[in-house]
Amino acid sequence: MQINFLDPATYDAGMWDRFRWCRENDPLYWDEASGLFVATTHADITYISKNSQLFCSAEGTRPGMPTKLSIIDMDEPRHGQLRGLINKGFSPRMVGKLEEYFRRMTIEAIESVADKGHCDFVADISVPLPLQLIAELIGIEKSDRDTFHRWSDEMMFGEGKWDDAEAMAVAGNAFAEYVEYLQKVFEDRRANPKEDLVSLLLSAKDEGLLGDSRDLASSDIAAKLGSEEAADMATDELLMFMVALLVAGNETTRNAISGGMSALIENPGERQKLIDNPDLIPLAADELIRYVSPVISFARTATQDTELRGKAIAKGQKVLMVYPSANRDEAVFDAPDTLKLDRSPNPHLAFGIGNHFCLGANLARMEVRVVVEEVLRRMPDIEYAAGPPSMHPHGLVRAYTSMPINYGTARAA
Ligand code: HEM
Repeated sequence: MQINFLDPATYDAGMWDRFRWCRENDPLYWDEASGLFVATTHADITYISKNSQLFCSAEGTRPGMPTKLSIIDMDEPRHGQLRGLINKGFSPRMVGKLEEYFRRMTIEAIESVADKGHCDFVADISVPLPLQLIAELIGIEKSDRDTFHRWSDEMMFGEGKWDDAEAMAVAGNAFAEYVEYLQKVFEDRRANPKEDLVSLLLSAKDEGLLGDSRDLASSDIAAKLGSEEAADMATDELLMFMVALLVAGNETTRNAISGGMSALIENPGERQKLIDNPDLIPLAADELIRYVSPVISFARTATQDTELRGKAIAKGQKVLMVYPSANRDEAVFDAPDTLKLDRSPNPHLAFGIGNHFCLGANLARMEVRVVVEEVLRRMPDIEYAAGPPSMHPHGLVRAYTSMPINYGTARAA
């Protein structure tokens, strides 16, 4: 079988069969068209992720991407230093405060559509909610949140289109506008420090702990992003972390929520278990995340010649790790294609593994849990209004674009 793993079309409804074929026939697949190896088993992805000396991140984790996405694209020891710093901003106290806020937003979003008896779950619930959370985390004013939404969409529009000048210009403009806005947030926090992530990172920057990461030729970035100014900003560690946060926190969780809800609609027996026993929801959130696997892949680069599965990997060659495939690996999961909300243990790799394990995992789990709790409380009879959700095949995330649903009165009518 010939598979081009950098072609978004590979991630259509047939992807699970392609992944299974790879696991069974060629688990470390050589993708001739993309010029990279592709790891599809749980064991290999775990091995690669846990061997960061042999398989590094600093050569870029998104093949072809012209700039680096903050700590995701760094190696030790700098990665660990920055991660330690940022982690302080994700303390249980802060996550607790964010949960209160997120639950309020979730109830508001559900109530705003409750009487209609129908809505588009993606547009009305799963897109705005994670955006609100990240906006709150970053300190975006309520009145600017629509603009924030646009920046997020436009920056993401550039993903995978590194050679498309127009797409890169759109992404570059959004990036420049977002960065200009952040400068105002920073000024405000310098004048009035708060107990939040931005104040914490800003004081780290002022102490010299966050600086420039000028390890890519800036002319290359400038050419792609459209201006020298944008290129300068792309080397500022604090700004780049704020960009990473926006992409990492929105594009992932919105699809976990849409996909999770779609799985509950398609598995009414499992959904009933949660309605009967809401205490199961925290455990169920992880199974929903495994089942959906919102993030498709990140890559590593071999730092020296090595060998895996009997194949020679030369220094400098890239290996793409396909998380949804690992999460359906029959060697690890019993009935991997079946949703089992009480699955335990559940060693899924949806958040990666090793020293780059997702920093927002607890936040994301909380978001999925809260949305499931509040939706099942208020619209337990939720069902598709027009068949399964629409998806946009995409190489980084499983992108749900629309999911019309009925509930309550409209369903009864
Ligand atoms: C269901 C939702 C999410 C999924 C599936 C997900 C998935 C991932 C994966 C697979 C990685 C590993 C990257 C690698 O090994 O190269 C990662 C890293 C990361 N994620 Fe998430 N993520 C989610 C939500 C979030 C949220 C809500 C945030 C922030 C608020 C976030 C922030 C990050 C950051 C900063 C990293 C880099 C960590 C590092 O390099 O040390 N993620 N995520």
